[in-house]
Amino acid sequence: MAIREVLKMGDPRLLTPALPVADFASPELAQLIVDMHDTMRALNGAGLAAPQIGVGLQVVIFEVAANPRYPDAESVPFTVLINPVLTPLSDELEEGWEGCLSVPGMRGLVPRHTGLRYQGFDASGQPIDRSVSAFHARVVQHEVDHLHGILYPLRIRDLRNFGFTETLFPGQNLQDD
Ligand code: NI
Repeated sequence: MAIREVLKMGDPRLLTPALPVADFASPELAQLIVDMHDTMRALNGAGLAAPQIGVGLQVVIFEVAANPRYPDAESVPFTVLINPVLTPLSDELEEGWEGCLSVPGMRGLVPRHTGLRYQGFDASGQPIDRSVSAFHARVVQHEVDHLHGILYPLRIRDLRNFGFTETLFPGQNLQDD
């Protein structure tokens, strides 16, 4: 078990496109996924992308547990998604608040596709093909953006909708991605 340091906005590695995984059998990939899982759990994140711990590979993980305080937020099963390809199901966009472990303590209103299909591979190289909507779709778009060197503040349309979490949402214990 290893909790890795999460890079923060300003580090050029977060702006660098990640490379596809070529070898699904490598012990380095298995260790990377364990470290990402441990790091996400330790920081109570909803998702994490490999570039956030300084590894420039197309690997993301995400998981959203059901929380009785947020009954509208659907739970998302723990997923390892490698070499992802996203296809929006429509042109419809929806604004929603996001946070990020690489932008700690902040929150911004970000437009995302309301529904999308994502394809890729799991940790053992088996294909994944899911069509999702709402918060699940938002988390996937946020994480896959990290693989393209995009942090969510770059997608905020009106920077008046960007601020400190404790000011915007006092008293709420919100997850970051
Ligand atoms: Ni993030």
